[in-house]
Amino acid sequence: MSKPTVDFKDISLSLKKLGIKRGDGILVHSSLSSFGYVKGGADAVIDALLEAVGQEGTVLVPTLTGKDTDSPQNPPIFDVMKTPCWTGRIPTEFMKRPQSRRSLHPTHSVSGIGPLVPFLINGHENSITPCGKNSPYYRLAEKGGYILLIGVDQESNTTIHTAEELAEVPYHMQREPTDTTIIDYHGKRIIKRLYLHRWGVPRRFQRIDGELERLGIMRKVKCEGSTLRLIKPMQMINWLVDRLRKDPWYLCLHPFDVYRKFGRDFRTQM
Ligand SMILES: CC(C)(COP(=O)(O)OP(=O)(O)OC[C@H]1O[C@@H](n2cnc3c(N)ncnc32)[C@H](O)[C@@H]1OP(=O)(O)O)[C@@H](O)C(=O)NCCC(=O)NCCS
Repeated sequence: MSKPTVDFKDISLSLKKLGIKRGDGILVHSSLSSFGYVKGGADAVIDALLEAVGQEGTVLVPTLTGKDTDSPQNPPIFDVMKTPCWTGRIPTEFMKRPQSRRSLHPTHSVSGIGPLVPFLINGHENSITPCGKNSPYYRLAEKGGYILLIGVDQESNTTIHTAEELAEVPYHMQREPTDTTIIDYHGKRIIKRLYLHRWGVPRRFQRIDGELERLGIMRKVKCEGSTLRLIKPMQMINWLVDRLRKDPWYLCLHPFDVYRKFGRDFRTQM
């Protein structure tokens, strides 16, 4: 059976159905192949996103570069112009657009187009944790923006880490800071001492999917093979921080599974 095919117009219509309008700010996590076949590829999706919010709106994509080896012993080196992201074809093509601007965070950068970009990304490299209150993830929420998941589920929703950071859950951050190297737009090397994520702790982010819908924080539409989810991040963060303060392991596998994976080392670091 041949794959369903979508084009710019189909995607635009779905974004409209979701309620995205001119002037909105959206952070987009995506899977291009989720639609089936997209005429025009990643560029058609990017054009539809930019058209939906108009010139007065802002689109952000995650251009993450963090690796599970990043640590004080293995500090990451991030070149804003050269380091590729691992978040897919759409962000990769998006950050090639001449009008896009990428934040300088060494593991959790985002790339953006639109008038809110300076407010959202400036100083991300000074955010002591990657997704905290001085990061684009929180600032977008403060500005009343949205998270859009295209064909991916809550496992790709980076802003959930914002809630984990604010709630100070015991498993999420490395204990010691890392002297990271950042190479900026002018080729200048900057050293920033930052706390990095501890990668690989098994999570179950998808468990919040039904809750977000039930609470009216998220709505969904289909576009051929893809499910698009639109989430209000400030409501999500507030609800989740409250939930995590009551049960810090709510987003994890059972602590036993975490201990089994990380062993004694992990326990003694907490
Ligand atoms: C990993 C991930 C990107 C993979 O999704 P994907 O759809 O397989 O890959 P991409 O979005 O990069 O799209 C490229 C793929 O789409 C397909 N493709 C290529 N052209 C296409 C077109 N015109 N139409 C549809 N699909 C096409 C191909 O399979 C291609 O893979 P290939 O380059 O290996 O040939 C996705 O599952 C994901 O996790 N996205 C979110 C990432 C994120 O934001 N993470 C945050 C973590 S905190």
